[in-house]
Amino acid sequence: MRILAVASQKGGVGKTTVALNLACSLARRGAETLLVDADPQGSIGLSLVGRISSSRGLAECLRGEARAEETVLKTRIACLKILPAGNLSEADHEMWASALADGSAFGRLFRGLLNDYSILVVDTASGLCASTLGVLKNANAVLLVVQAEPLSTRSLPQFLDMLRALRRNNHPVGLVGVLVNMVQAKLSDSTAIAQEILNMLPPQLALATTIPRDPMFLRASAKGVPLGLLYRKPHPIALLFDQVAAELEPRMGLSKTEEENEAEPLLD
Ligand SMILES: Nc1ncnc2c1ncn2[C@@H]1O[C@H](COP(=O)(O)OP(=O)(O)OP(=O)(O)O)[C@@H](O)[C@H]1O
Ligand SMILES: [Mg+2]
Repeated sequence: MRILAVASQKGGVGKTTVALNLACSLARRGAETLLVDADPQGSIGLSLVGRISSSRGLAECLRGEARAEETVLKTRIACLKILPAGNLSEADHEMWASALADGSAFGRLFRGLLNDYSILVVDTASGLCASTLGVLKNANAVLLVVQAEPLSTRSLPQFLDMLRALRRNNHPVGLVGVLVNMVQAKLSDSTAIAQEILNMLPPQLALATTIPRDPMFLRASAKGVPLGLLYRKPHPIALLFDQVAAELEPRMGLSKTEEENEAEPLLD
């Protein structure tokens, strides 16, 4: 499973934040990772300082004006590269939505990239819009991000139904995890709903790691960096994304099972 779409039914739940920080963790743990910004708003670009904002990217690739390898950006993390959203005019937004829904354009692009990377982490646009469906039709795996709030328990079954419908139509996309974001540890309503969400899921879909609501995300976003690069000594919440990566890797076939890893000797 090498194309991981980070998706949600509701907007603003933390998809871009999760895609960015998880991609950093996967790369630091050794996977050749390409973070793809498939949100026409260019959310990954907006989250980062540097030359990404005006860079060519997905839009130019999909319009046939550039090859993906020409637009991919290197980052300070050796194994992490980024394919920005590229430049879209208002007219392009319409093209993006209608032309991408059937998934074939994304399919061609993703297949061309797979030789060079262990995993593509794809940040998707808000809600289940046409471009997101186009991504999901080509992804092997989906990480669903939900906010720790009552609406999430109601929308979760709908999301699972949508994935089932895609599979019935020969798009073999599987959910690999549900990540509960913005948990407020001091609010019993918030922790209770996080637990309720996890209880709704079979163990292979629940993620033991949840992400707290924390002002550090605002600080990282104000500085335009992933949380892990905010301080020389990584913030403890940045390390939570390493745990999410470790939980997801075996589910995506990127590593052996947790049990096998535990048994590995220190010396050869
Ligand atoms: N755990 C968290 N704690 C505090 N703030 C958070 C957390 N996760 C995300 N945020 C903040 O919430 C806002 C929305 O996050 P983000 O942009 O990642 O959501 P999104 O799901 O990608 O939104 P959209 O649907 O518009 O693409 C951002 O300002 C982000 O910094
Ligand atoms: Mg986003």
